[in-house]
Amino acid sequence: MKIQDLSASGRISADAIRRRKGGVPIVCLTAYTYPVARLLDPHVDLLLVGDSVAMVLHGHKTTLGASLEMMIAHGQAVMRGSDRACVVVDMPAGSYETSVAEAVASARRIVEETGCQAVKLEGGVDMVGQIAAIVAGGIPVMGHIGLQPQSVEKDGGYKIKGRTEDNVAALFRDAETVEKAGAFSVVIEGTVESVAADLTRAIAIPTIGIGASRDCDGQILVIDDMVGLTVDRVPKFVKEYASLRDVVSDAAARYAAEVRDRAFPGPDHVFAATPDKDKV
Ligand code: KIV
Repeated sequence: MKIQDLSASGRISADAIRRRKGGVPIVCLTAYTYPVARLLDPHVDLLLVGDSVAMVLHGHKTTLGASLEMMIAHGQAVMRGSDRACVVVDMPAGSYETSVAEAVASARRIVEETGCQAVKLEGGVDMVGQIAAIVAGGIPVMGHIGLQPQSVEKDGGYKIKGRTEDNVAALFRDAETVEKAGAFSVVIEGTVESVAADLTRAIAIPTIGIGASRDCDGQILVIDDMVGLTVDRVPKFVKEYASLRDVVSDAAARYAAEVRDRAFPGPDHVFAATPDKDKV
């Protein structure tokens, strides 16, 4: 990362991400909380406060459970926990689709209340007005095409995109529209590998893949999936780099046994009458 790639705040800017097209792959992860943002910040280029937070942390069945207030609260936590990564906050369903004015107002609220570098929204041809207006207002936008989780109920489930000629043509229209509307990058989710690779070659802004292609300009995973903390269904495109499920459940089992045996707290975890005997 060159010095001019950092914004005045010292963070990687959305524009620096845009200039990474075709270069060293862009490393992205979702983050929703302060401690996790602190752990990830030194390793990634971009942290996405995804609306997946509604499912991952709040237990909703779909991302439709996310609200603007929820996204802002998690965006603020991630900003407090990071000082280097480009932080992008998802626009939740219901905050931008119905009108361009609503989209601009919601994007402005997210940026003003969190200080994040950019917002992300789902859609292609159907969202051209929203993307162009938010960008014209000075807020960088990341697009999101292919499988769009906010539309799963409408689509009748999580369906991989790019399996029919018509759908491939629609994906190209979406990618080109998002680029022309001024987005600095675009997430391609749940799309046939060869199609995602062709889309990456067809546009001049970086593509960030999730269940897409290794030829994308960058990759993103949901943090809880990546560290093996997801307790429900783990999608096929996830690689687990750790198994925190086992670590947490083993720690809870040992803690429970020690509390029941009165082995915890031990002498190191209680306070003596004389302060200098305390190890704090
Ligand atoms: O909400 C999210 O986590 C996302 C990623 C899957 C790209 O949009």
